[in-house]
Parts: sequence; C-alpha cells; structure tokens
Amino acid sequence: MPGIALVGIQWGDEGKGKVTDLLAERTDVVVRYQGGNNAGHTIVVEGERYALHLVPTGILYPHCTPVIGPGVVVNPQVLIEEMDNLESRGIDTRRLLLSGNAHVIMPYHLELDTVTERRLGNNRLGTTKRGIGPTYADKAARIGLRVQDLLDPKIFSEKLKVALKEKNLLLTRVYGRLPMDQKTIEVEYLAYGERLAPHIADTSSFVQRALDAGRAVMFEGAQATMLDLDHGTYPFVTSSNPIAGGACAGAGVGPRDIERVIGIAKAYCTRVGSGPFPSEADPADAEILVEAGAEYGTTTGRKRRCGWFDAVAARYAARLNTLTELVITKLDVLSQFESVKVCVAYEYEGERYEEFPPHQTIFNKCRPIFEELPGWGDDLTTARSLDDLPKEARAYLEALESLAGVPVSWASVGPGRDQIVALRETA
Ligand code: GDP
Ligand code: IMO
Ligand code: MG
Repeated sequence: MPGIALVGIQWGDEGKGKVTDLLAERTDVVVRYQGGNNAGHTIVVEGERYALHLVPTGILYPHCTPVIGPGVVVNPQVLIEEMDNLESRGIDTRRLLLSGNAHVIMPYHLELDTVTERRLGNNRLGTTKRGIGPTYADKAARIGLRVQDLLDPKIFSEKLKVALKEKNLLLTRVYGRLPMDQKTIEVEYLAYGERLAPHIADTSSFVQRALDAGRAVMFEGAQATMLDLDHGTYPFVTSSNPIAGGACAGAGVGPRDIERVIGIAKAYCTRVGSGPFPSEADPADAEILVEAGAEYGTTTGRKRRCGWFDAVAARYAARLNTLTELVITKLDVLSQFESVKVCVAYEYEGERYEEFPPHQTIFNKCRPIFEELPGWGDDLTTARSLDDLPKEARAYLEALESLAGVPVSWASVGPGRDQIVALRETA
C-alpha cells in the first residue's frame, strides 16, 4: 500500500501537525524525514496543547508507530526531554523508532548557528538557532556523527576527535569563542546513546515492511516547500528538502512508495525569519492576522510575518510536490476581514508572472498582483460541514482550488482536532 506524504507548501507553520494528527487516526506509521527541532508542530486535543519538535505527530495515537528517519538531524537532549515530557502527560513513547543513520546535532553546531548568524549581521537568515544548518553542512562534508555512533564509544570518540579538531579552530580563531572539551561531550552524548538505544533501529527497512504489509504509512514534512534548500527562496531557506521528493531520500523509500501527496496551506500566508515574501500584507492587516491567528512561532516564539495567500507559490508547490490535494487551514482567521486578498500573479518591470520566476532578482523585487474577494464575517469555528460555511467562504476555497489547480479536501476552522470541514467524499 503506497504511502501518503504531507507537506507544507508555504514558509512553514501551515498546520502540518494538526492535519497529520487528523490523518494519523487511520495511519499505522508516521515518519519524519527531514529537518530537526527547528520544527514546531502543534496539536490540540480536547483543549490539551502538544508542541512537538522532533517526535512525529503519530505519537498521540497508541496504534501508531512514530519513526524518525535517516534524513532528520537529531538533538538527543531535546529528543529525550520531549519524550519525558510526553510520558509525564501519559503518552507512551516506547514505540518511537529512531534511525541509526540520522545525524546528531552536536554542541558546536548550536554554537556555530549562533555565531555565524551574528557574523552575517543584516544579512542573517533568522534561523531558529537549533544547529540545523551546521549539522547538515557536516553531513555533506562527511564529518558528521550519526545516531549509531552513540552506541560505540570507540568510534564516537574517534569521530568526535576529527570533528573537534576543526571546530575548535573555527570557534577559537575565527569567532573568538572558547574551545569545546572532548571528554565532556563524550560523557554527555554516550549517556544519551544509552538512553536512546532501545529506540534505535533500521527504520528504512521497518517502513518498507510496513508498506509491503499494506499498512498505512504517512510521511510528515517539516518546514515547507518555500524553505526547501534546492527549490525555496535560497539562501533564506532551511538546510534540508521538505518537498515530497525529500521523503524518499529522507525516509529511505522509493518514489513508487508514495501515492498521495497532501499539500498544507494556510488560507493566508506567514513567514518567520528573513527573506523575500511578495504577498506580505500592509502592517495594519498583518497585525490583524497576527492577533486573530496567534501568529507567534511554536519553536522560537517569534512573531510571524503575515501576508495573503500566494497563488503563484501554490502553483509552484503543486508542481514540485505533485500535489494530489490541498488542505486549507486557519480559514476561521479570515473572518476578521470585509474582503480577502489573494496574490494571483507577480509583476516585475512591467511583466506579469503567473509562474514562479526562475531567478531571485525577479522574486526579490516583484510586486504582488492582488485580487480581492468578498469576506464572510461570520465565525467559522463551529462549522463542521460544507453547508455550515457561508457562501463567500466556499467561494474563497473554490478560488484557491482553481488558482492552485489542485482540489481542496479539507478546510480547517480552528486548532482543535474536531474543527475540520471535509469538502469531498474522498477526504
Ligand atoms: P506546523 O508547523 O505546520 O505544524 O504549524 P504550527 O503548529 O507551527 O502552527 C500552526 C498554528 O495554528 C498552531 O498553533 C495550531 O494550533 C494552529 N492551527 C492549526 N489549524 C488551525 C485552524 O484551522 N485555525 C486556527 N485558528 N488555528 C489553527
Ligand atoms: P515547521 O515544521 C517556520 C525557518 C527559520 C529561518 C529558516 C532557516 O514548524 O513548519 P533553520 O533553523 O532551519 O536553519 O532556519 O527557516 N524555519 C521555519 N519557519 N516553520 C518551521 O518549521 C521552520 N523551520 C525553520 O525561521 O527563516
Ligand atoms: Mg511550526
């Protein structure tokens, strides 16, 4: 039974956690395939709020096996804290599987994420400072440490020595920081290894066996298409591939193992950190969206930049991810507006761009072309079926569907598990 990939199609925080949780009810395995604890996926169940950073969303269902795949970068301390926190709230985390091939975020990665951002000054990316970029950089440079290294003190010590030799030079000579101590890191990280040992597994093979046995497998994207290292707004991106294709490399499955690709989009748009954002709203409208949508980051608490739905980016994401459907979240937030804008195209030097421009010069300087649709005003948070939605809200969803060229399966009308409207039979 082929799997389902669930991906963000904007700049993150689209509500992937909420939608993954919704689908996890009918899913046997939920796999995270990229990113690390830069992600913050919020789930609200019966008024209880869970903010997951590393643990896949499936953890909340006892029938579901959560898997952290080889493409994820893991801060073991954060993972253990997250598991302990879930346990203290009565969630059993024993089923969690962690790939031995996943790379480990080390103390020097955290430090380097901070000092490189500082050095960039006004050009900084606005990273989450969780060590994500430096860890993926070491993975590509082949001097990274992997989860399985935590299980072998000799190998761990040797690899750490190689890495520290370079990192300490960098930290002390370039950034004027203190060197890091090999022994201290060894003691700390080998203890994490002991704690995590029961969870470490060949997750790629586990997932393949689940697929072969006809079990439902979902690949839970973190970050989003516009933050993709290769296809996003580089360099203002994260250091992994959140797009659906990334699920194959990051989980260790083949392209034919994914049949359904669900794109998650807010009914408007947000972005945290620096970088171009063509459909960004004027400050007054942005403030309304921030307040009504509680647009503060789950991971860093930063206020999110807010804008209108960007149909150009949505079409780009539809193509890159081969989306089979869309879920539109936070529709309820737009009840605040008398009319709702949608960015249908970009304009640059007199030319209209319906498609995502291939070069950053255009994207960085383009102006949004907005179309305005009538608002609805009514509170949507209690809507549970299409009939409960005002006709203007339905027309808005139809407009998004037609602009993106992808059918909308669900509209989400609040953070709660039950605050969802199915638009189609297949949903
Ligand atoms: P993710 O990173 O894509 O999982 O999204 P986040 O959890 O970082 O951010 C989405 C935020 O919106 C969370 O606080 C959710 O509880 C909340 N949320 C999700 N869906 C809805 C919705 O339909 N309406 C409202 N008002 N909030 C929502
Ligand atoms: P979820 O999974 C929103 C952004 C950061 C920064 C850029 C690079 O919750 O949607 P990084 O720390 O990854 O090197 O930062 O990416 N970013 C996110 N923005 N949601 C996220 O995750 C993000 N993860 C990273 O703000 O602009
Ligand atoms: Mg988030």
